[in-house]
Parts: sequence; C-alpha cells; structure tokens
Amino acid sequence: MRNLLVTGGAGFIGSNFVQWVAEHEPGLHVTVLDKLTYAGRRENLAGAPDGLLTFVEGDICDGVLLDELVARADAIVHFAAETHNDNSISDPAPFVRANVEGTFHVLEAARAHDVRLHHISTDEVFGDLALDDPVRFTEESPYRPSSPYSSTKAASDLLVRAWVRTYGVRATISNCTNNYGPRQHVEKLIPRTITALLCNERPKLYGDGRNVRDWIHVDDHSSAVWEILTRGRIGETYLIGAGCEKSNREVMQAILSAMGCPGDGFDRVSDRPGHDLRSAVDASKLRCELGWEPMHTDFSAGLAETIAWYRDHESWWRPDREAAERRYAAQGS
Ligand code: NAD
Ligand code: DAU
Repeated sequence: MRNLLVTGGAGFIGSNFVQWVAEHEPGLHVTVLDKLTYAGRRENLAGAPDGLLTFVEGDICDGVLLDELVARADAIVHFAAETHNDNSISDPAPFVRANVEGTFHVLEAARAHDVRLHHISTDEVFGDLALDDPVRFTEESPYRPSSPYSSTKAASDLLVRAWVRTYGVRATISNCTNNYGPRQHVEKLIPRTITALLCNERPKLYGDGRNVRDWIHVDDHSSAVWEILTRGRIGETYLIGAGCEKSNREVMQAILSAMGCPGDGFDRVSDRPGHDLRSAVDASKLRCELGWEPMHTDFSAGLAETIAWYRDHESWWRPDREAAERRYAAQGS
C-alpha cells in the first residue's frame, strides 16, 4: 500500500489517524478529502510532514471528485460523517446526506476501481443496554439505532455489507465506542465540560447522569483501524473498545476533581430525547484475531492529558465553543 485516501481526515479522529500513520508508516502518502464543515479544521493536520499529505477540500457526495481520488488510491479509510447526536435531533437532513448518500458514493468509487475500503462506524448502531445487562455488544448484536445520527450510521453499515456481498467490494467495518483526546469538537461531553470550567461556567449533565459510555483514547482507535485495514478479513466487522465504562456523572465528577472544582459544580439539564442508556462493547474478536491492545488504559491519566491540551489550546476551541453554545441554547441544553 503506497497511497491512502482518508475521508473526514480534518476532523477529530480522522486527523488523529493521519498523524498516527505519519508517525508509524512514514513511507505512506495520504490524501485527505474533507468538506471542512463546522467540525473540520485544516490546522488539525498541521503536524503531518510535508510531502506525506495532499489535502483536498471537497464533499464525499461529489461522485466525480471521489472517482478521481479513488482511482489514484490503494486503500480508503472512510471517517467523513456528521457525528453529533444532538445536532441530528434538531436537524437530521445533513446526516442522511453525508452519512448515507456520502457512503454510497464512497462505495461506488471503491467498486469502480476495486480499491480496498475500511468503513468507520459506531457502537451506537446497536442502540443501548440495560445498566445491569451482563453482556456487552458483539459483532452479532442486532442493529437497533435510537437517534437520527445512529440510524444513518446503521444505514451506511448496511450499504457497505450489501456492496461486499453483491459486488465483491473489499471492505471491512469497525464500530467503536466513545472516543476522547485532543482536538475533539467542543460540542461533545468531555471537551464541553472542560472548556465550560476553563470559562468559569457550570457544565451541564443531561437527565440524571446515570447513562453509561465506554471510553477509548483516540490514539487507540487509530491503532485499531490500522490493524483492521492491514490485517482484517474482508467482509468482516470488528468492534473497537477498551473496556472503560463510566457513567456520565462519574465522567463529570472526574473532570471537576481533576480541575480542582467542587463535585457539585454542575447543572442538571433536560435529557436528550431517545437518549441511549448504556453502551459497551466486547472487543474480543479484535484482540484475539488481530492481537490489538489499547495503550491508554488509565482513564484518569488520559483525562488529565486531555484537560492539559484544552488548557493549552484556547485559541483552537474558543470560536467553536461560542457557536456550539448558541446551538445548545436554541435546543435548551
Ligand atoms: P468529527 O465531527 O470530528 O469530524 C468529521 C469530519 O468529517 C470533519 O472533518 C468534517 O468536515 C468531515 N465531513 C463531514 N461531512 C463531510 C462530507 N460530506 N464530505 C467530506 N467531509 C465531510 O467526527 P469524529 O468524531 O472524528 O468521527 C469520525 C468518524 O468516526 C465518524 O464516522 C463517526 O461516526 C465515527 N465514530 C466517532 C466516535 C466518537 O466518539 N467521536 C466513535 C465511534 C465512531
Ligand atoms: O458511541 C460512539 C459515539 O460517541 C459516536 O458515534 C458519536 O459520534 C459521538 O458523538 C459519541 O456520541 P455520544 O452521544 O455518546 O457523545 P456526547 O459526547 O454527545 O455525549 C456523551 C454522553 O454525555 C451522552 O450520554 C450525553 C451526555 N452529555 C453530553 C453533553 C454534550 C451530557 O450529559 N452533557 C453534555 O453537555
């Protein structure tokens, strides 16, 4: 593999993956295709060495552009998507377009040029678990998405499966749990909470805060994607997770404590409609078949580094925060 096409490479996880590749596979040339929506930043790719990276500003729904780029690629990693549940509730249309129609165009280009594809998806396609459910999601769990966002990701996964079976497209899928780390958009729980405290404002906890998420450091997501891209079996799905379940209340209190704030220094706000109660994955297939292991197994340490990153990069998040908080104010959360 010499030329890799990464869609959505200017976003949180895509840019981390590009930097991971630059560090671990320096011989590889990467082309990033990104529309630079409110969530994408050209500067997120600033660390990639010259000569390694070609950046193309464009839309995955542009079939002609995709066809041109895929013709020159040996493999595609498809991150591009609209990704925030709350936005999908207030305005689902961009999610259908980017996540369903966009994935259709990626698949058609992969089919036309017989190029290997890895499709990035989410554990939210499986819906939620009870708090005391003894099992976690596996690759065999039924699809039961709850939100407009997760239903469009589920739809995109089903398109990938159909293109594999009907047209023999050489694709794999991964469904990962909640990521955290540097350069995550301030609309998401961990950066929203950290930046509220940095602004001397009270962070917001949805509902009763019992909802559980399974957290993984974004570096570990990137290493897992590389293993699946290079050694995964075509047509297979792999769940990615580091086995780090925390309630939202625990995450909120961990951040408050790490930032020297009182444990009750947050406000409870109305719950997200259709809010998934608990998500957690069993990543045994990835661990046993491909030998993948997460490196960031200490959540408190990962959180402390993430807090330090936001403390040191105010100019990166400040303008986005103002816009995101205006969107939240319009939604009442
Ligand atoms: P993000 O919102 O930070 O970045 C998305 C990127 O996609 C942005 O750079 C944006 O400009 C780009 N994009 C959006 N629509 C596009 C279009 N039509 N054409 C080209 N580019 C477009 O998202 P993220 O958190 O980095 O998520 C990346 C992928 O990982 C998504 O597919 C998401 O569903 C998946 N995922 C995310 C998480 C998580 O916790 N954040 C967990 C599991 C899976
Ligand atoms: O599971 C993977 C998914 O994780 C990804 O597919 C999504 O792209 C990603 O956004 C994330 O989805 P969540 O909805 O779980 O993430 P979010 O950061 O929006 O919220 C995490 C939890 O925190 C969720 O239960 C809602 C709650 N929350 C969120 C915000 C923004 C709060 O309590 N307060 C908040 O201010």
